[in-house]
Amino acid sequence: MTPKTFRIKNFGCQMNVYDGERMAELLGDQGMNAAADGEDADLVVLNTCHIREKAAEKAYSDVGRLRREDGSKPLIALAGCVAQAEGAEAKRRSPMIDLVVGPQAYHRLPEMVAEASRGARPVDTDMPAAAKFDALPARRRAAPSAFLTVQEGCDKFCTYCVVPYTRGAEISRPWPDIVAEAHLLVEAGAREIVLLGQNVNAWADGDRGLAELIRALARIDGLERIRYTTSHPSDMSDTLIAAHGEIDKLMPYLHLPVQSGSNRILKAMNRNHTTDTYLAIIEKVRAARPDIAISGDFITGFPGETEEDFEATLNIVDAVRYASAYSFKYSSRPGTPAATMEDHIATETMDERLRRLQARIGEHSLAFNRSKVGCETRVLVERKGRRPGQMIGRSPWLQSVHVETDAQPGAILDLTLVAAGPNSMTGAVRRRAAA
Ligand code: SAH
Ligand code: SF4
Ligand code: F3S
Repeated sequence: MTPKTFRIKNFGCQMNVYDGERMAELLGDQGMNAAADGEDADLVVLNTCHIREKAAEKAYSDVGRLRREDGSKPLIALAGCVAQAEGAEAKRRSPMIDLVVGPQAYHRLPEMVAEASRGARPVDTDMPAAAKFDALPARRRAAPSAFLTVQEGCDKFCTYCVVPYTRGAEISRPWPDIVAEAHLLVEAGAREIVLLGQNVNAWADGDRGLAELIRALARIDGLERIRYTTSHPSDMSDTLIAAHGEIDKLMPYLHLPVQSGSNRILKAMNRNHTTDTYLAIIEKVRAARPDIAISGDFITGFPGETEEDFEATLNIVDAVRYASAYSFKYSSRPGTPAATMEDHIATETMDERLRRLQARIGEHSLAFNRSKVGCETRVLVERKGRRPGQMIGRSPWLQSVHVETDAQPGAILDLTLVAAGPNSMTGAVRRRAAA
């Protein structure tokens, strides 16, 4: 029986969320409806992430939980990066899975669902360069802050990371496609666009790079804010850095992962940058845009990491004064070079270092947030808060801002930041900015 309702569960990064939105649009085009909250769906798409073991295992435990009390089950599609990594093996691991579709093949989801409804168990983990985007329907819905994937894949091969294997080689979408999608997103209600790529700053079309693209998008009426993520230090060009001082709509926020503060570990990670080259980029970015919020990613307990290496990581956190940062303990991923390196670190040591790192990052986040108290700024309202009359939006520096207002998602408010916490700010409205 062909499913009438569907639910998509995203497990991964922002690009994974973008893929989830596109799959929802594809299924919607087939006349299927998203199942209401708490209601059973005929089709469940698990849009999985393979980056760390926990995320990957969660996908399989979720499959098991989809069995209904009466013993029946929805049609189950395994999508995303676990699907790519495991392919047909996934069907053997879990007989409940009806179809397996990789992140470069999901434009075929509707026909695969039809095949699965007839009892087949199709698998598609092909990686044709960018064919997917041409086969997707036009954008018709957008949140106030909308994601737009412009670049996919990764050629960097950091020794711990599965992304080059699950997402394939770096490819850039063509300029006109991106501009067209951005226009549709704005017509559909987006006020902010977040350009996405595993290595978004490697985006290029001919001799035009990300800075030129951002400049062109900034000319779209009704689009108020532009962001991009995630960048790699090796691709942080001077033109892109300069753009932060030149384009008003480009928000003062840069996510630039460093992973470790130890050059020995960076080398073992195959990161292609040192702490000095990284810090030099940060300095240039701050010269172009002094108030910029810097964020990053860290891994603790990479194989061979000594206490001294770890302390070097704490030092780079102090040197950069991150406004925010994500940190993870190293997770050994099958097939990656680091998995077979010597001196894997004990879990307790990784945990202890992660706690110390997060405490240090937290001090800097709080300091950054406190430095913005009293600041008059603009906030893009994104969603309802927990309390009645409370809304949550984002400051230019990507802080969550809680504010009492009757303004709806998509509104841009002129407000004063009046209080700071470790993870969010409180704002008081001065007036509603002209739309
Ligand atoms: N392309 C981006 C995002 C990669 S995945 C980048 O290069 O930054 C997001 C983060 O997950 C990485 O920055 C890294 O900090 C973390 N990560 C990747 N592989 C990991 C692993 N095997 N164990 C722990 N963390 C990992
Ligand atoms: Fe993974 Fe490194 Fe590529 Fe980022 S740059 S996706 S961490 S291999
Ligand atoms: Fe996860 Fe794939 Fe993104 S592995 S982090 S969903 S690219």
